[in-house]
Amino acid sequence: LFLVLVLLSFWRLAKAKAESRPKYPRSLPSLPIIGSLLHLGGNPQLHLLFHSLQKKYGSLYSLKMGSHYMVVVNHYLHAKEVLLKKGKTFAGRPHAVTTDMLTRDGKDIAFASYSLLWKFQRKQVHTALSMFRKGTLALEKIICREAASLCETLSTSQDPLLDTALEFNRAITNVMCSLCFSFCYRRGDPEFEAMLQYSQGIVDTVAQESLVDIFPWLQVFPNKDLALLKRCVEVRDQLLQKQFKKHKEALGSDSTNDLMDVLLRAQLNMENNNSRLAQPLELTDDHLLMTVGDIFGAGVETTSTTLKWAVLYLLHYPEVQRKIQEELDQKIGFERHPQLSDRQQLPYLEATISEVLRIRPVSPLLIPHVALTEASIGEYTIPKGAQVIINLWSLHHDEKEWDKPGEFNPGRFLDERGNRLYSPSPSYLPFGAGIRVCLGEGLAKMELFLFLAWILQRFTLEALPGQPLPALEGKFGVVLQVQPFKVKARLRAAWRDGV
Ligand code: HEM
Repeated sequence: LFLVLVLLSFWRLAKAKAESRPKYPRSLPSLPIIGSLLHLGGNPQLHLLFHSLQKKYGSLYSLKMGSHYMVVVNHYLHAKEVLLKKGKTFAGRPHAVTTDMLTRDGKDIAFASYSLLWKFQRKQVHTALSMFRKGTLALEKIICREAASLCETLSTSQDPLLDTALEFNRAITNVMCSLCFSFCYRRGDPEFEAMLQYSQGIVDTVAQESLVDIFPWLQVFPNKDLALLKRCVEVRDQLLQKQFKKHKEALGSDSTNDLMDVLLRAQLNMENNNSRLAQPLELTDDHLLMTVGDIFGAGVETTSTTLKWAVLYLLHYPEVQRKIQEELDQKIGFERHPQLSDRQQLPYLEATISEVLRIRPVSPLLIPHVALTEASIGEYTIPKGAQVIINLWSLHHDEKEWDKPGEFNPGRFLDERGNRLYSPSPSYLPFGAGIRVCLGEGLAKMELFLFLAWILQRFTLEALPGQPLPALEGKFGVVLQVQPFKVKARLRAAWRDGV
């Protein structure tokens, strides 16, 4: 009996010890220096690879990119725990060579870790966006002006090979120029072209988990991509500096016309108020410039890429395009232009936008989050400093949550009576969630709705005759890029006949 009791207490002790030991997520095999890179097989489509690895490692697993420990989240319950329930704990951002170069070591919003100053920067942008929803600088007015100009270019251009995707970039860039600097460019302005070029350069070179980000010591060797990024950042900085100087000189007047003004005033007030604060904040010129640069970068590439995905899907699914046009014809007709207040009456167009954001999320791995303290996700311990990657692609393609997730079907965002379903599944987070949720969600939805409604009211979009339709595969990078494609915008009969 004594022996049995001793064994029992040993067994209990061992069990308690095992239970108190932290349980880490299952890990991909890893080697010194390179980490798990061999097991990633050089696949550049990280979102797809991370999705497929679930079969072997479960929906939550870890790996090492060089020496960086990463946890990959593929299920919405874990994603919501990270973003919503423990948002502040996981509100850090990692440092990386390319994003540090882009943001002057994280003085922006998107790539800055959680701090009081970061909160302050976010609040200023939020204030500016809510302020400009109304008033003379109403965002709706600006977007409609750009939509009208885009439609004009599409109908007057005789060039069958007009680069429509570039025209979308121009239109969205001008919306952001108006918001940030209350200024917009004419087509052909060399500064405008330089801006479009540097934006593309940044998209091409700031890749999540590029080699130089994984092994920062590679910077000492000549690097074509890094050199291009440096040149693009220099051009961007010259343009930002020019606007900064102009706005600073004009700040004496009472009016606050754009985001740059909002930030300059905040900087001024901060200098006056800091003496009363226990922890003074310093919004330096670098922070101010990087905040504007961030909103510009985040605002242009995401929205124009989503617009391009929408157009590409409409080329592949002409019946969806026809249905949107029928809805537009019935609810708006040809006598007036679409406006934001029409959103309620155009559920099929709204459902199409939601479906595009589901099937091709432009930010398929969000921006990496970092655990600011030791934490947990589900039953697993996550060490302080771990990068947490939310694989939005997996959430949006989860077969348990979505019927045939690979199929493009706007109908899944409608009920049986054709009314809009905002989120048919909890596994849908195109703009992220929680304290690091996208700052431009409202603006992006306005732009997507108005641009598509204006274009499809007037034009039918078609692939170029005799040319195969571009594939629907994306290219993973700072955004999920669409392969370049050309599209013919044919004026609809009602407009040709001058109705
Ligand atoms: C962050 C999506 C447009 C500004 C994000 C994130 C996503 C996202 C998924 C990452 C959230 C996270 O890391 O947890 C999108 C999509 C857009 C769009 C799908 C368009 C279709 C915009 C626009 C702006 C903007 C128009 C500018 C007004 C930002 C900023 C962040 C962000 C500043 C960083 C927030 C932070 O780190 O605190 N966006 N976005 N986005 N977005 Fe957007």
